[in-house]
Amino acid sequence: MRKYNMAIVGATGMVGRTFLKVLEEVNLPIENYYLFSSSRSAGTKLQFMGKEYTVEELTENSFDRGIDIALFSAGGETSLKFAPIAAKKGCVVIDNSSAWRMDPEVPLVVPEINPEEIRKHKGIIANPNCSTIQAVVVLKPLHDKYVIKRIVYSTYQAVSGAGMAGYKDLENGLKGEPPKKFPHPIAGNCLPHIDAFLPNGYTKEEMKMVNETRKILGEPSLRITATTVRVPVFNGHSESINVEFEKPFDLDELRKVLENAPGVIVQDDVQNNVYPMAIYASGRDETFVGRIRRDESVESGVNLWVVADNIRKGAATNAVQIAQKLIEMWNEEQ
Ligand code: A2P
Repeated sequence: MRKYNMAIVGATGMVGRTFLKVLEEVNLPIENYYLFSSSRSAGTKLQFMGKEYTVEELTENSFDRGIDIALFSAGGETSLKFAPIAAKKGCVVIDNSSAWRMDPEVPLVVPEINPEEIRKHKGIIANPNCSTIQAVVVLKPLHDKYVIKRIVYSTYQAVSGAGMAGYKDLENGLKGEPPKKFPHPIAGNCLPHIDAFLPNGYTKEEMKMVNETRKILGEPSLRITATTVRVPVFNGHSESINVEFEKPFDLDELRKVLENAPGVIVQDDVQNNVYPMAIYASGRDETFVGRIRRDESVESGVNLWVVADNIRKGAATNAVQIAQKLIEMWNEEQ
C-alpha cells in the first residue's frame, strides 16, 4: 500500500500538540512527518512516534517536498496565506481555522455526518468550529428523523479553545494574576464574549455556529440563534441545545436514535446524577449527550446537554478522521 507524507502546521500549539497525540493513536500509512510553527518556536524539539522531531519555521517553500496532507492549526491568517500555497503544490490541507469554512468551494466536514463532501475538495478541506462539531454530531440524526425547525444554542466553552494563552489565563487567574488573553478575568467568572463582536450584536463565534450548522446540515435558511460563553473550565465544551422539530416525536424513540448515532454516547440517568460533564469528556473522542427532555413550551421540541473534548473531537480528532477518510478514498481510487 502507498505511503504518504504529512505536515503539521502549528505543531507547538494547543491543537497542534493534540494532532500529534491523536496521530500516535491511529495507524495512518504515513512515511514522513514534517512539523512547522512560526519563527518563535522553530528549533523546538518534540517527541513524536518514538522519535525526536525538530520543529521548522513555516515558509513559502515548506511544501516543496512532496507533502500529501497538511493539518493546519496556526490561526486564520496563516491558513489564508499558506493553505493556497500548499494546495498549489499538490498537498491537501485540512484546516482548523475559520478562514476557509464558509467558502462555497471548500467542503466543511464532520466525518460522521458528511464524509462524501471530502471528494469535492479543491486542495482545502475545512474542519468546523469546535462548538459546531459536537452539536451537529448529535443534531444530524435527529434532523434526518424529525426535521429540525429551529435551534437555540447556549454554550459553556473551555479556555483551551482560546489556545495556550487562554489556558494560561485561567491557570494564572486562579493564582490571582490578571488576564493577558481575555479582556476580563476568567477565573471565577463567565465571559459572554468569544471572538470579536459583529455589527448585528452577535460574536463571530456565535455566527460561526449559525452558519456552519446550516452548511453542514445542507439547510441554508434553518432558523438558528446562539449565545456563546467562555467559562472557567480548562478543557471540554458544554452546550445547552434547544431544538424544535417539524414532526412529532416519542421521547424514548428519540433517545434510541441518539444511542445509535455514530460518535455519540448517551449519558442520561438523572436519578443517579448521570449526565455529561466536561471533566469526564476531556480526553475522549466521542460526543456525550444527556438531560434529554421534552421542551414543554412548544408543540414538538427537546432540550439537550451536549459535551465533548473541544481540542480532540472539536479540532484534532475530527481533522485526523478527515485525513483517514481521505486516505481511504485515495486507496479506493488506486
Ligand atoms: P509558535 O509556537 O511559533 O507561536 P495556540 O493557538 O495554541 O497558541 O497555537 C498556535 C500555533 O500556531 C503555534 O504552533 C504557533 O507557533 C503557530 N503559529 C502562529 N503563527 C504562525 C505563523 N505565522 N506561521 C506558522 N505557525 C504559526
